[in-house]
Amino acid sequence: MEKSVKIALLGCGTVGGGVIIVLNENREDIAKKAGCAIEVKTVLVRDKKNLKPEIKKYNVGYTDNLDDILNDPEIEIVVELIGRVHPAKEYIEAAISHGKHVVTANKDVLADYGKSLFALAAEKKTDFQFEGAVGGGIPIIRPLRACLAANKISSIMGIINGTTNYMLTKMSQEGLSYAQALAEAQAKGYAESDPTADVEGIDAARKIAVLASLAFNTPLTLKDVHVEGIDNIDACDIEYARDLGYVVKLLGVAKNDPENGISANVYPVMLPKNHPLASVNDVYNAIYVNGDAVGDAMFLGRGAGRLPTASAVCGDIIDIVRNIRNHACGRIGGNLFEKKKMCPPDKEMAPCYFRLQVADRPGVLAAIASTFAAQQMSIASVIQKNVMDNGTAELVIITNKVSRLSLDLSLRTLQVLPVVNEVCSVMRVEDPALP
Ligand code: HSE
Repeated sequence: MEKSVKIALLGCGTVGGGVIIVLNENREDIAKKAGCAIEVKTVLVRDKKNLKPEIKKYNVGYTDNLDDILNDPEIEIVVELIGRVHPAKEYIEAAISHGKHVVTANKDVLADYGKSLFALAAEKKTDFQFEGAVGGGIPIIRPLRACLAANKISSIMGIINGTTNYMLTKMSQEGLSYAQALAEAQAKGYAESDPTADVEGIDAARKIAVLASLAFNTPLTLKDVHVEGIDNIDACDIEYARDLGYVVKLLGVAKNDPENGISANVYPVMLPKNHPLASVNDVYNAIYVNGDAVGDAMFLGRGAGRLPTASAVCGDIIDIVRNIRNHACGRIGGNLFEKKKMCPPDKEMAPCYFRLQVADRPGVLAAIASTFAAQQMSIASVIQKNVMDNGTAELVIITNKVSRLSLDLSLRTLQVLPVVNEVCSVMRVEDPALP
């Protein structure tokens, strides 16, 4: 067999440790598949003392100086696993500039700087791979860049944040409150100690920006994504959803409307119970893609965690080793060849669910209906469920398709309408039955 390919890891936390474990434990099969052995030569760490005991037993070198890696001609692949934007982005740039092939699982860097990193990698003719950046262990980046490359992709809908999927599952199946579900997700180590990026939808927004860029061949960043989290969702919304035949999921949704442009959103959605994404529960992620040739395709699996993410990262490493051995590096670029226009808010349409606390007296429904009518919003159904002791009632309204602009304008009016005490929650409804 040929001489080994040597790699370096930047960072040796949860995923970095997983990569060392997988490459060592599956060493022989990996060498056969790659065509040569793969050796972790050097790991960049701030302090070697912090290394987890299960990693120390493997025979790898350590440094706290990036230059030791950049200037080592033996190291051909640099694997960035330190996370966050800075200095990860600068480290990736430095590695590519030194002619190294790069693997990363860093969605934050990709969502902000993907385009310039693709350009740099193309200029230097190096491989730049990032399967672990979205959906952890689920193959979705390579399918979009390679297997589905012949398609015009029209939409991607994904459950791409495990923390919020776990919380919504617990609220739905066990009747937990939002606070209880969040506490449980934190106790199990799914949510960060500061779970803001998870529950406010920012983590999912970065991921849908990466997926939509690849699917639609246009550079999108976090700023192009309209984001709403699950922090306003109450257990009773989930109950109403169930009564109406829906389940609530936090989705990243990106669409390519040939007439009106690209839309990219993260928001809680009511999905019909029989939708393939509706039964994806707990910390599982899933991505549902529609292409003109393939039709619908769904990718399902573990969206985070040490070994699932290491599985994706190691797959990228093996792929690059094969490219190196066959002099085929730089084969698949970013393909962001077009700057497509974004869909204006008056053309982005979806049915909506509203839950309102209102005064319980004659004329209230008429006032709300006329607010909707002023925005050309057609009501599909109304439920009045709980009449409370204090003279207020709870109204649930489902509309037919409304534009994002009409939705925003109607919300502004509802929020100051004297008969509306509170707009408790608003969600999109993904239901083809609603016109
Ligand atoms: N916090 C993320 C999630 C995992 O809950 O899915 C890393 O992207």
